[in-house]
Amino acid sequence: MKAVYPGSFDPITNGHLDIIKRSLKLSGSLTVAVLNNVSKNSLFTADERVEMIKASVADLPNVKVEKFSGLLVDFMKKENADVIIRGFRTVSDYEYELQIAHVNDHLNSDVETIFMVAKNSYSYISSSIVKEIAKFGGQISDFVPKEVERALNKKYK
Ligand code: PNS
Repeated sequence: MKAVYPGSFDPITNGHLDIIKRSLKLSGSLTVAVLNNVSKNSLFTADERVEMIKASVADLPNVKVEKFSGLLVDFMKKENADVIIRGFRTVSDYEYELQIAHVNDHLNSDVETIFMVAKNSYSYISSSIVKEIAKFGGQISDFVPKEVERALNKKYK
């Protein structure tokens, strides 16, 4: 299988990183696809997000990091990929994830979505929560890779 792990990654967290590592056990290689749609209000530019992910996965084999715009299924086609990896943490993620999976299945039924259940220890981390903690000067070192911690502290200085 050729797997893609898509997301906003604004910024990448240790929860995302755990999904990347565990996905590699399934697929052997992985493309992390960073959403670059202008309608989403992100703290970091797509290029900044890509760079932070690249730094965070530098020690992992066979991980590619790419930006994408437009529809995920079109990116999948361009990459010749057939599996979308998504992580979910809680029941509240489920409805959203189900909706995305059904939409993508409708748009291209050759593409499968595989869900990875987030480890309990990462189940309460999200990019938004990490940004909020950083914004008010809280400790985020347990939640994000080192380079992300540095970048967030710099943004909110
Ligand atoms: O990290 P996120 O924001 O939950 O990731 C959402 C993402 C990027 C997977 C989703 O918004 C996406 O695939 N957007 C691209 C546009 C698209 O294909 N939309 C139709 C399926 S929702």
